[in-house]
Amino acid sequence: MKHRDLVHSTSATLARWVVASLGLLLCCRLSAQPAVQFLEKQKVWLLTAAHSQYALTTNREGELVHLWWGPRLPAADFESGALAPVANRTGWGENPQYLEFPGWGEWRYLEPALKASFADGVRDLRLRVAAHQIDGERLTLTLKDAHYPFVVELRYRALPQFDLVERSAVLKNTGGQPIKLEQALSAVWHLPHLQSWTMTYLAGKWGAETQLRQVNLDQGKFQIESRHGATSHQFNPWFAVSEAGRAGEDHGEVWFGALGWSGSWKIAAEVNAAGRLQVAGGIHDFDFAWQLKPGESFETPVFVGGFSAEGFGGASRQLHAYQLAEVLPKPQAAQPRPIIYNSWYATTFNISVNQQIELAKKAKDLGVELFVIDDGWFGKRDNDRAGLGDWTPSKTKFPQGLKPLIEAVHGLGMQFGVWVEPEMVNPDSDLYRAHPDWVFHFPNRPRTEQRHQLMLNFARPDVAAHISGVLDALLTENAIDFIKWDMNRHITEPGWMEAPPAQQQEMWVRHARAVYDILDRLRAKHPRVLWESCSGGGGRADLGILRRTDQVWTSDNTDPLDRLLIQDGYTYAYAPKTQVAWVTDNPDGINRRDTPLRFRFHCAMMGTLGVGGNLLKWSSEEEAQTKWFLAEYKQIRPLVQEGRLYRLRSPGRFVVPGAGSGFGVPPLGGSGNDGFWAYSYVSPDRSSAVLFAFLRSSELGNDLPAIRLRGLKPEARYRVEARQPDKANPPLGTQTLSGTALMERGLALRLRGDYASALVRVQEEPMR
Ligand code: GLA
Repeated sequence: MKHRDLVHSTSATLARWVVASLGLLLCCRLSAQPAVQFLEKQKVWLLTAAHSQYALTTNREGELVHLWWGPRLPAADFESGALAPVANRTGWGENPQYLEFPGWGEWRYLEPALKASFADGVRDLRLRVAAHQIDGERLTLTLKDAHYPFVVELRYRALPQFDLVERSAVLKNTGGQPIKLEQALSAVWHLPHLQSWTMTYLAGKWGAETQLRQVNLDQGKFQIESRHGATSHQFNPWFAVSEAGRAGEDHGEVWFGALGWSGSWKIAAEVNAAGRLQVAGGIHDFDFAWQLKPGESFETPVFVGGFSAEGFGGASRQLHAYQLAEVLPKPQAAQPRPIIYNSWYATTFNISVNQQIELAKKAKDLGVELFVIDDGWFGKRDNDRAGLGDWTPSKTKFPQGLKPLIEAVHGLGMQFGVWVEPEMVNPDSDLYRAHPDWVFHFPNRPRTEQRHQLMLNFARPDVAAHISGVLDALLTENAIDFIKWDMNRHITEPGWMEAPPAQQQEMWVRHARAVYDILDRLRAKHPRVLWESCSGGGGRADLGILRRTDQVWTSDNTDPLDRLLIQDGYTYAYAPKTQVAWVTDNPDGINRRDTPLRFRFHCAMMGTLGVGGNLLKWSSEEEAQTKWFLAEYKQIRPLVQEGRLYRLRSPGRFVVPGAGSGFGVPPLGGSGNDGFWAYSYVSPDRSSAVLFAFLRSSELGNDLPAIRLRGLKPEARYRVEARQPDKANPPLGTQTLSGTALMERGLALRLRGDYASALVRVQEEPMR
């Protein structure tokens, strides 16, 4: 199928949903107060969303003070002026007020948003509100230093339909001397004063990204961060906080945020002596320094924050809807993601044109829509020791270049994609031999290699321009529809010795910005291309890269059992549509586990589906099942990629630092640690849904608890049907039930054995 057909095949469903959702949206908007208001008399700036509010004011000194973030309050509370900013009553040694964007100085000992030093050596900021501007859903507050020519523009964007607020800051040097920035975060979020705090976050490692964790906060600071010069596998820039024990998957108040930055970052949650929590985040200040020259500005990345009164599930759905509408690049954001075949696990570096064409034919026959050739197609890339940096097709593997393969793939009616790793170079490459000075390095220090590779310094404009040109040529000379941009190591020896000493530490930010610039430029010039972000799996997944890439390779770990944990965590922050999962061969490469094909497919179908096994070795039974699953996926794709996700029973395997392995710790859903997991995706108009259920192992002949669905219309009647490629042991008969019955009584599935799973379609019946 051509991409155009693919778009059309789902466009009718999408159009219906859009109309339904727009209707809903319009009702809310007509009755709502303006998204941004300035209450002149009270000097209050008020951002109002469907269910939440965010408010700021000034104090007597003209400083910008935080007033409120949480559920909507009656207008009278703001208008009467009775709602005063909360005072900091730590008693001694801390500024008595919570500044919205605290610059370090005076007696502000909590984590500041900003730290700067002026040319005369003064390292103290006194920012006062000088002006404001409201433009629809955008509010800009201009703060000026009381003495020095330093201006801070705080930018807010209310997103009332998602109950979110985007924040960023622009720092300007309006004088004649340089100003040194030592910390420039995007936002400090102040939370209401609750009894006690729990922070939920995503941690992990290579092959085990985005594992959900929780920690109870106490006086002091809890920080998640990356010093890698990339987003990292270890922590992801997303947080959620809630009152301890009072929020779960579908209940309770949750405040949350996600930072859009793919370089080094930090999110610091700090509880002060008065029990107040602030969460500060942005570009990491570790080894950060930026020389702001006269007339120059520095813009921080966007940090989006939100409030949900419907628990973590509500928070995730707000973020997912926001990403589909506002973050992901257009027009691809609204288009269905094609089913991928990626040949990496099948053929690794041992590739040839004919063998890839054979794989492509098989893939097409199964129903694949996009064929991707991964690592190994370029330079002298016969293993991972050579070739990175030389982005021309291997003379031995592709003597006529990529064209014969591209033509074959297109001829079969599939899209064609390639893998690149543009920031990297092997010492054994023509590029490195010609430009050994192009990599990050320090003199008198070894150049640390990881996977035999070094990292190009994109802070150097000549290096970034070279790579940008190479990628542009690759796209111009070849009919490439898809690029997977990988990053298989992070920064060490961060030297940029050619720069003046005062600017050398700018490399962290300049490198990340150059990656963005290259992607922006290539997207503008080659607007049809679809991009995937990868960094040894999920090491670069964040809202910054998702403004420029359409999807993420979430992990190199394709064991479906592990993948359920990884995907579960990922969906707390990111939309399922952005998450690519392939079905690979048994046993998987990490745990050496054998799992049924059905289990692998059900797991991978919960995001953007791919296949990554060696199709040349698949049995006819495997092929037949795969055809069935791919056809089924095409039907449920709009639900999975655009629908609302309900984590009905999460694996929820928290690891609380200091509390052992975490097995047995109750998950957010309050269930699921019995090895029985379920997720549903519901269309925005609530007329259809798909349910996935997974059972790790039957035990003691126990019946499974009923799965209570969510998000349906209580009064509607739904046809419920378990779908599978064969007729043996159906997990459920076909039934018609009310939304209320499905949500209150639930569905009892008959799953038995090890790695059992089911896919159930739920469709509203027309009213008689
Ligand atoms: C990384 C990616 C894999 C694959 C290899 C190729 O590990 O995550 O998917 O592309 O690189 O070398």
